[in-house]
Amino acid sequence: MILVTGGAGYIGSHTLVELINQSESVVVIDNLQNSTELALEKVKEITGKDLTFYQGDIGDAQLLKQIFEKHPIKSVIHFAASKSVNESVSQPLAYYRNNISATVTLLECMAQFNIKNIIYSSSAAVYGDPVYTPMDEAHPIGPITPYGKTKYFGEQILADLAVSDSQWNIVMLRYFNPIGAHHSGLIGEDPLGEPRNLLPYLTQVAIGKRKVLSIFGQDYNTIDGTPVRDYIHVVDLAKGHVQALNLIQKQCGLKVLNLGTGKPTSVLELVSRFEAVTGQKLPYQMMPRREGDAECCYAAPDAALKEMSWKTELSLDNMLEDAWHWQSKNPNGYN
Ligand code: NAD
Ligand code: WQD
Repeated sequence: MILVTGGAGYIGSHTLVELINQSESVVVIDNLQNSTELALEKVKEITGKDLTFYQGDIGDAQLLKQIFEKHPIKSVIHFAASKSVNESVSQPLAYYRNNISATVTLLECMAQFNIKNIIYSSSAAVYGDPVYTPMDEAHPIGPITPYGKTKYFGEQILADLAVSDSQWNIVMLRYFNPIGAHHSGLIGEDPLGEPRNLLPYLTQVAIGKRKVLSIFGQDYNTIDGTPVRDYIHVVDLAKGHVQALNLIQKQCGLKVLNLGTGKPTSVLELVSRFEAVTGQKLPYQMMPRREGDAECCYAAPDAALKEMSWKTELSLDNMLEDAWHWQSKNPNGYN
């Protein structure tokens, strides 16, 4: 049985589907600070299977103990965190409390119950400004924002734990830019308020909720002047977690792995593929660079292939089709 923290969120809900499809039993804990229980209802609809849900905070040791007493949890997949880069700059302490303190509480409770298998959601944000591309796991570390630092400190805490006790099996996954939605159109990304990330903003423009997409910067040293990223289908990302569980079953110790496609895509390339795939004309305007944006960031995903036989299967066109299917089927997200 697997405990999934943050399972009602964007990546968590897609991962639940893949886990349940592989006949894993799952228990979810989520405080719904950035999600809704409706996502879990949709997961049940997609899979035709039930799941156990606790609405609560991973910083609540009492609740965690109740869960570990009641369910024979073997491994934890730890998604629960606050993830807005912007907000982390204005509210660093809230980010350190939620992403670091609460993670320490989770790990303490796991250790008490002798549950020593964990998959941790890390981020390409731990690398900071790219020094070379594609970026492998040996790329220098240098997170710039409090959010990125929380992800890196989380990694460091886990690495120290692995040194202190060799029974721990820890897979830290550094995600690049997850986009897209489940092919059913029943679950997807549903940001609160005005989206900051490219895809949700773009699909909200396409559906008519927002007027125009601003493209931040056209003077980068890239194929067409706009920044380059490694967009990865959220379903491929979700499947990476199933593979990571298999790796943990082999008593893997500590592993850190990039999850990306290894394929660079510029903002303008993405916009033009979106128009081609969906037939939607997308109004956009060129704007100055957004502060803090890297020029070019994409993964070397070879280690994940070697260590856990995982590579992405879905194309950029699949990501855009599925993101559009979700947005057009649910103009107001889960509401
Ligand atoms: P999300 O906000 O959709 O999901 C996170 C979930 O955790 C939400 O449902 C939220 O309500 C819950 N949560 C937050 N704090 C909690 C707490 N203290 N107790 C219980 N539940 C809590 O975010 P996501 O995009 O699904 O991201 C999942 C993880 O992946 C996060 O750890 C994030 O840092 C990491 N990550 C995300 C991206 C991305 O671009 N989406 C990229 C790299 C890494
Ligand atoms: C992608 C590109 C923008 C919006 C962020 C976090 C990172 C990780 C993933 C969690 C950039 C451009 C965007 C818009 C635009 N999250 N853009 N107009 O910044 O690569 O990564 O999400 O770990 O930590 O920083 O993703 O989707 O915001 O931007 O032109 O309205 O789209 O400039 O080049 P980013 P993004």
